Amino acid sequence: MIRILTVIGARPQIIKAAALSRAIRNHFKRDINEVILHTGQHYDRNMSQVFIEEMAIPEPDYNLEVGSGIHGVQTGKMIMGIEEVLLREKPDYLVLYGDTNSTLAGAVAGSKLHVPVVHIEAGLRSFNKKMPEEINRIACDHSSTLLFSPTMTGYHNLVREGFDPTLKPPFSIDRPGIYHCGDVMYDNSLYFASIARERSNILEKLGLVKNEFILGTIHRDNNTDIPERLNSIFKAIMEITEIFMGPVVLPLHPRTFKVLKKGLSNKLYSDVVNNSKIRIIDPVSFLDIIILEKNAKLIMTDSGGVQKEAYFFKKPGIILRSETEWKEIVDAGAGIVADATTSKIIDAFMELVEKDNIEYPEIFGDGHASEFILKKIIENYV
Ligand code: UD1
Ligand code: UDP
Repeated sequence: MIRILTVIGARPQIIKAAALSRAIRNHFKRDINEVILHTGQHYDRNMSQVFIEEMAIPEPDYNLEVGSGIHGVQTGKMIMGIEEVLLREKPDYLVLYGDTNSTLAGAVAGSKLHVPVVHIEAGLRSFNKKMPEEINRIACDHSSTLLFSPTMTGYHNLVREGFDPTLKPPFSIDRPGIYHCGDVMYDNSLYFASIARERSNILEKLGLVKNEFILGTIHRDNNTDIPERLNSIFKAIMEITEIFMGPVVLPLHPRTFKVLKKGLSNKLYSDVVNNSKIRIIDPVSFLDIIILEKNAKLIMTDSGGVQKEAYFFKKPGIILRSETEWKEIVDAGAGIVADATTSKIIDAFMELVEKDNIEYPEIFGDGHASEFILKKIIENYV
C-alpha cells in the first residue's frame, strides 16, 4: 500500500484535491492510502469546509490552523507543521497542488526530509516574478520528483527549464519525471456539472436568467492592494452596467471584501454599492459557482481557476491581469488579457459579448487527469 500525504490550504487546492480523492476512492483504494493535511490558510466556512462537505473530500486528518499572515510568518508556520506531520506519518509521497504558500511550505518541508514531492499543476509560468505564486511554482517544481502539467505549454516550460523529458522511472528529486496529464479541475467540472444542475438553486435565489448576467471574481493581491487598479476595475464594471442590460454578479473573496471601502474612492464606493445592477455577494459553493459560470453571458476574473472553468463551460473571459499562465485560452480567442485598465476591459467586453463563433478546442485533457496521475505514482513506486 502506497501512503500519500496531501496538503491542502487555499480554496482552489481543496477543490483540486476532491478529484484525486475521488479517483482513489473509486479506482485505487487497494493501492493508495491518502492522509490529508489542511494548513488552515483558508478557514472561513465558505472558503474551506463547504467544499470538503459538498465535494465529498475526506475530513482532513490534520489541520495546522495557520490562518492569515504576511508571507514569511504564514509560510514559516506551515513548514514547521508539515515537517512534524511528515516525520510522524512517514508517507511515500507528498502531494501538492498549485502555487500557494501552502504549496511552497510543502515543497520545502518535503524535499528537505527526502519525501518525494508530487506537484500537480506543474510548469505553469506567468513570467512575472512579482507574483508570489510565480516564486511558489518555480520553487515547488524544482523540489519535485513527479511533475504533472495540465497543459502542453506548462510541459514545454519545464523542458525549457532543464527538466529532461527522456528520463524513465524510477524518478527522484535529481532525476525528476515530467508528464502532461490534463487538468484535475476539468475532471471536477465534468463530474459536478450534472450534480450542480440538480442541487444548486443559486439562479432562483439571486433572480438570474441564463445569459442575462455577467459573473466576476477578483482577488489577486495586486488588484486588491493597489488602489489605482481596484478603482480602474470597478470603474469598468460600472460602465459595463450601463451598456449591458443584466446584472454583474460578484462573489467576492474575503480579501477583496475587506479592502473595498478603503481601496475605492468615496464616490466610486458609493456608486458601486448603490448600483442595483452590481450584485456583490459572499463567496459561493462549488456547485453554485458552476451554475453561475455555466449560465453567465461572459466571465471577468483574475482567478486562475475561474479562467479555466469559463473555458470548460464555453464562456468568453476577460482576464483582469497583465498576463496569464493559461496561454491556450487566449490563443483560442476565448479570453482577452485586459489587465486592470478600464478602457481595455470595456473593449474586451464589447468584443467578447458580440462574438458568437468562438471555438473551444479540448486543451485540458479528457476528464481523467486524476486517474492518470495516480497510475504514474503507482508505476514510480519501488
Ligand atoms: C491565496 C493564494 C493565491 C490563490 C488564492 C485562492 C498565496 C500567496 N496566495 O491568496 O495564489 O489564488 O489563495 O483563493 O498563497 N481571508 C479571510 N478568510 C479566509 C481566507 C483569507 O478573511 O478564509 C482574508 C484574510 O484577510 C487574508 C486575505 O484574505 O489576509 C488573504 O488570504 P491569503 O490566504 O493570504 O491569500 P489569498 O489572497 O487568499
Ligand atoms: N470558486 C468558488 N466560489 C467562489 C469563487 C470561486 O467555488 O465564490 C472556485 C472556482 O470555481 C475555482 C476556484 O474557486 O474552482 C478558484 O479559486 P480562486 O479563484 O480562489 O483561486 P485561483 O484559482 O486564482 O488560485
